[in-house]
Amino acid sequence: MPEIVVGAGRIRLVQGDIVQAKTDAIVNAANASLAGGGGVDGAIHRAAGPELYELTRPFGGCATGSAVITGAGRIPLPTRFIVHAVGPRYSTARDAECAALLRSAHEVSLRLCEEKAVESVAFPAISTGVYGFPIARAAPIALQAAMEHLKAGERSVKRVVFVLFTPADLQVFSEALASLGQG
Ligand code: APR
Repeated sequence: MPEIVVGAGRIRLVQGDIVQAKTDAIVNAANASLAGGGGVDGAIHRAAGPELYELTRPFGGCATGSAVITGAGRIPLPTRFIVHAVGPRYSTARDAECAALLRSAHEVSLRLCEEKAVESVAFPAISTGVYGFPIARAAPIALQAAMEHLKAGERSVKRVVFVLFTPADLQVFSEALASLGQG
């Protein structure tokens, strides 16, 4: 199980279903309407129950590159929060803009976790499914955002877990983590 120590925290990569992450917070790969969908969004809403829609409705949506945080509905403890992060739909023509939006979706998610004194948070590979972000391009962006957050001194977040859905995705993240860890 790949893991690196960053400052007072650590980043770990695992393969599996994010609903089973057993972290204080789980990040959802949501869309701007926050009205649910397939992939990670569908799995989280199924596990959390219809009350999760009640929790997101007051926000009236969320900008791409940003996130909102709610309670976790029926997802059992230790998970207390769901962060609904909205990554970009990838397009090669707008690669740099997409990269910046993916990065900010991670940064805002981590900032919201700090506000709730979250110690452990699980991220899926945001934007790499329906939104088409090439995972080899997304992995270093996601990992770098987590590393920089953990490096920046006093943080409540101590453990960032990336939950990758397939062995191939885990492999891509592992390679990106290895090259960033050396940098
Ligand atoms: N656990 C972990 N990872 C998962 C799971 C799961 N249960 N289900 C899917 N994945 C993986 C996918 O394989 C992909 O690598 O999560 C990554 C993100 O895929 P999507 O869920 O499709 O998210 P995204 O690409 O950000 O697209 C968001 O999809 O479901 C809709 O409402 C959502 O419109 C939004 C869009």
